[in-house]
Amino acid sequence: MTTKLEESKGAKTATISIDGKSAEFPLVTGTEQETAINIEKLRAATNCITLDPGFGNTGSCKSAITFIDGEKGILRYRGYPIEELAAKSTFLEVAWLLIHGELPTHAELEGFTSEVRVHTMLHQDFGRFFDALPKDAHPMPVCAAAVGALATFYQQPESEQQIHDTIIRLIAKMPTMAASSYKHSIGQPFNYPLNRLDYASNFLRMMFAVPCEEYEVDPVLARALDLLLILHADHEQNCSTSTVRMVGSSMANLPASIAAGISALWGPLHGGANQQVIEMLERIEAEEGTADKFLAKAKDKNDTTRLMGFGHRVYKSYDPRAAILKKACGDVLQRMGGPSRLLEIAMRLEEVALKDDYFVSRKLYPNVDFYSGVIYKALGIPVNMFTVMFTIGRLPGWIAQWQEMRRDKDFRIARPRQVYVGSPKRMYVPLADRG
Ligand code: ACO
Repeated sequence: MTTKLEESKGAKTATISIDGKSAEFPLVTGTEQETAINIEKLRAATNCITLDPGFGNTGSCKSAITFIDGEKGILRYRGYPIEELAAKSTFLEVAWLLIHGELPTHAELEGFTSEVRVHTMLHQDFGRFFDALPKDAHPMPVCAAAVGALATFYQQPESEQQIHDTIIRLIAKMPTMAASSYKHSIGQPFNYPLNRLDYASNFLRMMFAVPCEEYEVDPVLARALDLLLILHADHEQNCSTSTVRMVGSSMANLPASIAAGISALWGPLHGGANQQVIEMLERIEAEEGTADKFLAKAKDKNDTTRLMGFGHRVYKSYDPRAAILKKACGDVLQRMGGPSRLLEIAMRLEEVALKDDYFVSRKLYPNVDFYSGVIYKALGIPVNMFTVMFTIGRLPGWIAQWQEMRRDKDFRIARPRQVYVGSPKRMYVPLADRG
C-alpha cells in the first residue's frame, strides 16, 4: 500500500494504492492547520479498514471546543489560552464558554449563575439512594451511579428545554452529590447547599462543615479550587470524553452518557492518576526513599511501576496545566502555613526525571495530575475524592462535547470495526465428545 498527498484545484487529496488499485481521499484541514485524511469511503473504495490501537492517529470527529498542540504545550478553550482563563476567569464562566461557544455577557453570566444556584439541592429521596450503598464505597462509582440516577428523577421527554434543564441540574447538583458521597462515607450528616455562596465555596462548605460548628470558607482556598476546576474543564477527545460521545451516539440521554464518562475517568491511567500520584508521593515519604530510587523502578521494564502523573498521549512537552498548578501549589501551601514534604518530593522527582534520558527521550513530562493532588491534599480533600474533583471540573466539557456531537450534521452512531484474528470457521463439537 502506498499513500500520496496531492493538490488539485486547491483541494488537497491523498491517494491510497493497494494491490495496484488507487483511490483518492479528501484532506480536511482544521483552523490550526492540522490535517486529516477523510477515509469515510475507504472501505467502499478499497475493501480495507484502518487499524489504530488506542486511536493515536484517528480523529473521531470535527470539534470547535478545545484545541491542543501537544508538541508546543498549548491548550485553548474555544480559542482562549488556558493561561488567560486560569488567571482571569471563573469556573462557571468557563462552563458557559465551553457549552455556548462564546464568553457570556454580564447578563448571561448572571442568569446562568442564578439558574445553577437554585438547582443545587438534591431530591429528598436521594438520601435513600446513598443509604443503600456500602459506607466504604469509593466515591467515584457512587457519583457515576448518582448521576445515572438523576435521569430517574427527571423523566420528561428529551426536548431542547429539557436538555437545558438537565445541563443546569447536572452542573448544580454535581458538587452536592460529590459532597454527599463523602459525608456518607464518613458517617456525617449531609449539608444542604448554601446558595449565597459561589460554586467552589459552596462545595467546600458542603464537604467540611458540621452542624455543631461554625464554618467560614477561606476565599484563597475557594479560588484555588475554582482554578483547578477551570484547568480540568475540557481536554478534547480523551478517554472519558470519547466515552461520553460514544454512549451519547446511541442517543442515550445526557446523564447516562455522563455516568459512563465518570466510570472511564476513574481508571488509574486517566483521571484516577491524581490519586495514584499522591499515594506514590506518600509511599516514597513513608519509606524514606529517594526520588532516584523510585525513578529507577519506574524505568525498569521488569517492574510495573510507573511515574504517575508523568507522560501524556498528546502532550510531548510540558502540560500547560501542570505549569499553572505548580505555581498555585506554592500559593496554597503558603496560605496553609508552610512547605509540604510531598511537594518537595514531587519537585525533586520532576527535577531528576527531566534530566534523565529515559524520560527525556520518551518525551515524558508532568501532566495535570502531577501537582493537582498536592493542592487537593492541602485543601483537605481526602485522597479518594481527588478523581471526583476532576469529575466536577470536567463536567462542562463532557456536556459541550455531547451537545456538539448531537448537533453535528455528520452525526452517526459510533461503531468501530475490527480485524478478526480468531479461529476460522469450525464445527461445533458436542460436549460428550470433548473429553
Ligand atoms: N513512567 C514510566 N514510563 C512511562 C510512563 C511513566 N509515567 N509513561 C510512559 N512511559 C513509557 C512507556 O513504558 C513506554 O516506554 P517504551 O517505549 O520503552 O515501551 C513509553 O513511555 C510510551 O508510553 P505509552 O504507554 O505507550 O504512552 P501512551 O501515550 O499510550 O500513554 C499515559 C500515556 C497512559 C498517560 C502514560 O504516559 C502513563 O501511564 N502515565 C502515567 C499515568 C498518568 O499520569 N495518567 C494521567 C494522564 S493525564 C489524564 O488522563 C488526565
